[in-house]
Amino acid sequence: MSISSSSSAAAPTPAPSARLLPGAPVADQILADVETRVAALRERGITPSLATILVGDDDASAGYIRIKQRQAASLGFASPHRHLPATATQEDLHAAIDEFNEDRDVHALLIQYPIPQHLDYDAALMRVDPDKDVDGMHPLNLGRLAAGIPGPLPCTPAGIEALLAYHEISVSGHEVVILGRGATLGRPLAMLLAQKRPTANAAVTVVHTGVPDWPRYTRRADILIAAAGVPGIIQPEHVKPGAVVVGGGVRYEGRRLLPDVDESCATVAGAITPRVGGVGPTTVAMLFRNAIEAAERRFT
Ligand SMILES: NC(=O)c1ccc[n+]([C@@H]2O[C@H](COP(=O)([O-])OP(=O)(O)OC[C@H]3O[C@@H](n4cnc5c(N)ncnc54)[C@H](OP(=O)(O)O)[C@@H]3O)[C@@H](O)[C@H]2O)c1
Repeated sequence: MSISSSSSAAAPTPAPSARLLPGAPVADQILADVETRVAALRERGITPSLATILVGDDDASAGYIRIKQRQAASLGFASPHRHLPATATQEDLHAAIDEFNEDRDVHALLIQYPIPQHLDYDAALMRVDPDKDVDGMHPLNLGRLAAGIPGPLPCTPAGIEALLAYHEISVSGHEVVILGRGATLGRPLAMLLAQKRPTANAAVTVVHTGVPDWPRYTRRADILIAAAGVPGIIQPEHVKPGAVVVGGGVRYEGRRLLPDVDESCATVAGAITPRVGGVGPTTVAMLFRNAIEAAERRFT
């Protein structure tokens, strides 16, 4: 198959050919399982509870919290919420976290990111009870992941593993190249996909700005995962013909979503996540899976 460049004005763009890998059916399957498990706890008189904290008045963040609360309610979770003003201090934030940490009726806790710039998100994350950490990003949980000890998994990486498994993409024994070694996506994903498990078990390579000739690696990947947050960084010439391409990295310009993977990669890839509705829905579903697992852990 010939490799075309999307920047060529003269050449006609070939029709997309890759199979799409939507996240919605994966998320639906995960959420159906969560709903069943919530109902099972409720039958025992236990209401699983996912608490949320929002700091400041950012419209987008408030919107995301509302969506998560609505979804929590529809799945059967209680969802107590604290909204702190944009002027809140680190101590105010820690006090809100402590309150939910100590509340035995709260099983999982989410701090909506980002928080105002004068606040230290990492310090807040460290304050969260690791067993209530729905994002799976507390250092103790990243340590559990590294050590292979069960615990809440980082949502986006876990969602990508689930997405590949759902769409029957064979990961085990294959070459996975991840562009980006960030703490939320590339780094934990590399640990996850290298684990000894049928849906992982991959030969994982991570590339970044320290590897200027990174296309040399991405071009040999059976599965290429973009986790850089640089719009359009992955072009068709970076993709092995027939490879699976997963777009994890995105940047927002206002409300406009700018993905790492240029849409023209669909002309070279064998399978690809859609521009919108790929990794996002599976990330949210994993958050609820972490929440129900946190509740179950308390009562087993
Ligand atoms: N879809 C979702 O639900 C979801 C959830 C979470 C995160 N994300 C997205 O995932 C992306 C990654 O987030 P993160 O926090 O893990 O990472 P991050 O801290 O933003 O780091 C980005 C990584 O990409 C690498 N990179 C950036 N520009 C590059 C370039 N020109 N060439 C090669 N490598 C480059 C960086 O290399 P260096 O380390 O060398 O600087 C770094 O390792 C972001 O776009 C984020 O929005 C999406």
